[in-house]
Amino acid sequence: MDTSTLPIYLDYNATTPLDPEVIKAMRPYLDGHFGNPSSAHCYGRNAHAAVQKARAQVATLLNCAPNEVVFTSGGTEANNYAIRGIALARRNAGKHIITSQIEHPAVTNVCKRLQRDGFEVTYLPVDEQGRVGVAAVENALRTDTILITLMHANNEVGTVQPIEDVARLTKSRGIVFHTDAAQSVGKVPTDITVLGVDLLSIAGHKLYAPKGIGALYVREGLAIEPLMDGAGQEGGRRPGTENVLASVGLGEACEIAAKSLSANRKQMERMRDRLEGGLLELVPELRVNGDRRSRLPNTLSISAEGIDAAALLTHIEAQVAASAGAACHSGQVYISHVLEAMHVPPKWARGTLRLSTGRMTTEANIDAAVAAIAAAIKQLQSYGSSSLDVDMQEHWERIYGTKAPDQVSWFRPHLETSLALIESAAGDPAASIIDVGGGASTLVDDLI
Ligand SMILES: Cc1ncc(COP(=O)(O)O)c(C=O)c1O
Repeated sequence: MDTSTLPIYLDYNATTPLDPEVIKAMRPYLDGHFGNPSSAHCYGRNAHAAVQKARAQVATLLNCAPNEVVFTSGGTEANNYAIRGIALARRNAGKHIITSQIEHPAVTNVCKRLQRDGFEVTYLPVDEQGRVGVAAVENALRTDTILITLMHANNEVGTVQPIEDVARLTKSRGIVFHTDAAQSVGKVPTDITVLGVDLLSIAGHKLYAPKGIGALYVREGLAIEPLMDGAGQEGGRRPGTENVLASVGLGEACEIAAKSLSANRKQMERMRDRLEGGLLELVPELRVNGDRRSRLPNTLSISAEGIDAAALLTHIEAQVAASAGAACHSGQVYISHVLEAMHVPPKWARGTLRLSTGRMTTEANIDAAVAAIAAAIKQLQSYGSSSLDVDMQEHWERIYGTKAPDQVSWFRPHLETSLALIESAAGDPAASIIDVGGGASTLVDDLI
């Protein structure tokens, strides 16, 4: 693929490309080594050895024993297995689970399903930096609390939680502690003996391994119900013929992460800080979300007042690929649950952009992204979309003149073109504007 014409990728928290060394390690398992790890012959033994090597590589990164690593299909399955598996294994000991309001849906929705099955869940609030208070965890503990599940680092704002401090609370009380480390593995240290957790989830595609592979660390001796029934793979904990190819990829990615954690971390942080500094210099009134003292080294969540993040993304889509902190559907703006829990005011939250740097990010990438993003923010703010909260009718009249909403269908090749079209059509009662999605439709949706 010719990447020279693609926008600069600043969405490494969504997913990462494969590391070339990961591809190299995987290649033999695409080409020739196709055996089933359960087979007794040399094809099988080869595949089995590859999975075991990968398991040891993951274990080295986490500083745990290889038999404490269970391969899964990704972060989502690892979280499901950890939470549901413990809830079911301990259901006779208690029904109470503690989590936070800013978890990934792969945790929150598992908890919600368990509530429907009769479990009780406490969703802890966070402070304005997105941090869960250790005292709040302690206050939420009950005699029937069986599990705490708290993410290590947040995928949207990057805030890193005080996992070690919470682990001290759970250890003395015999409560199982799970952390979703999908975003932190490979970016910050994730040594199990330091974190003190009983279960930890990994998502391969966040650390330069393929999609569709992950792992769950399960502390030796911890009783946990498997999600599925089948044959005895993964020590009976995760049945199904192993994904040898992807496991090899995850193992290699973990080995690289372990070897170069400090260098990678510094590089990602340098790029992120250059991005943050550059944007704040050009748009000083930007708000930075997340805990700047305890944040993933690659993550920057910024909010621009009064603009719509979807419009901003559309505006920069030829230059920069990033994510929004709010989505707009049918005239409704849905602000992310993370920003809502952090009490980011809606007029800022709706203009939130998540930018995340990676190993491949260069200074030239950052400088070009800063220029594009800052220019787009200024332009959008100059359109006056900052007045989105004023009366809808007033908006309608200002932009469309006399046209009634039901006379208008939408066309949107590009935000600016769209706005120009809208403005030019406003005085023409016969004109109709068709919009096919993107920034202007978002803007227009807001107006309807
Ligand atoms: C914090 C967090 N947990 C879990 C997941 C889900 O991982 P996967 O995509 O491997 O299922 C993600 C992915 O976005 C994530 O960011």
